[in-house]
Amino acid sequence: MTETALTVHQTARPHGFPTADHFTFSESALPRPAAGSALVENLYWSVDPYHREMMDDVPGGFALGAPLEGRTLGRVVASRTPRLTEGEIVFHRKGWRTHAVVAPEETRRLPRFDGVPLTAYLSTLGGTGLTAYVGLTRIARLQEGEDLFVSAAAGGVGTTTGRFARLLGAGRLVGSTGSKAKADHLTREVGYDAAFDYHDGPTAELLGKAAPDGIDVFVDNVGGEQLAAAVGALREFGRVARVGTISQYNTPGATSPRFDHADIVEKSLRLEGFLVRNHLDLQEELYEFAVPHLRSGRLALDETVVDGFGNIVDAFLGMLRGENTGKIIVRA
Ligand SMILES: NC(=O)c1ccc[n+]([C@@H]2O[C@H](COP(=O)([O-])OP(=O)(O)OC[C@H]3O[C@@H](n4cnc5c(N)ncnc54)[C@H](OP(=O)(O)O)[C@@H]3O)[C@@H](O)[C@H]2O)c1
Repeated sequence: MTETALTVHQTARPHGFPTADHFTFSESALPRPAAGSALVENLYWSVDPYHREMMDDVPGGFALGAPLEGRTLGRVVASRTPRLTEGEIVFHRKGWRTHAVVAPEETRRLPRFDGVPLTAYLSTLGGTGLTAYVGLTRIARLQEGEDLFVSAAAGGVGTTTGRFARLLGAGRLVGSTGSKAKADHLTREVGYDAAFDYHDGPTAELLGKAAPDGIDVFVDNVGGEQLAAAVGALREFGRVARVGTISQYNTPGATSPRFDHADIVEKSLRLEGFLVRNHLDLQEELYEFAVPHLRSGRLALDETVVDGFGNIVDAFLGMLRGENTGKIIVRA
């Protein structure tokens, strides 16, 4: 085992798009676990769009000059508690660092399903998959045969939403993403029927071509113009599951394009946002739904895995720029 640990700190608040200069890697002696805790060597890290929101001066945001937090999988390497066994792999939130001292109550044991790789606990079986599952089954309440539009469709939540929607019997699946290559990937690999690059014109036009008969459900990871276009395309009794607003995270003060508020009434639409952390009780249900499909091969994982903890900041910035396909994960 190494004798030193590396921890990422945020050094300044970004105005607009962050850069590597907003972060620093801090080296320290390997932390020693106090009685009742354990030292974990981290193996996989999740970097997420919400980390960009936490970089701002907001309640609960990242403190400057302090370790950042994020979802992580690590191996217990030294334990001073009978509740954590050396060698076992645990999920915890002390990410953005090579090593962490954790108390048992700060960790979650992972069920092991034969044939399912560890990365799945940060992608399809983790917060990403749970977000997709909650959005479809509890917020949009997708019914068989219904047509769906997904924004940021090539990302972690977007690819999982597409694959889950297919398994739930969705009708036509349309996605938007940031490049032609990613749009092609969605139709060739992920099971979308049509996909477009949102840079190619006004979303209302692009969506009109991809879904000429309209949509029943919009799973929205992006907000802004895409939300406005989807409200226009929704049929009577349509639903919007508001998942995220990534089009605004790097553009402070951005105003959302307006949509016709009368549409909400005239078409009896429902627009509902949610946070996955309020639905953690559905974790077991997600396993019951997804694991058999993962094992049978009907459900594939969509992941971009970046090697090396030293690349964690670049991986995060690359994800904000759309360099990932599926869930971005950093591997030690
Ligand atoms: N409500 C919740 O509890 C919850 C939980 C998890 C995630 N989320 C939200 O869900 C969304 C997706 O998260 P994720 O973890 O799956 O990330 P992700 O989609 O894997 O990665 C972010 C993607 O956003 C796209 N993007 C970046 N800037 C954009 C812009 N200005 N306009 C449109 N697209 C842009 C990029 O893809 P392109 O190449 O396609 O532009 C990028 O790959 C985020 O908004 C996130 O905050 C919410």
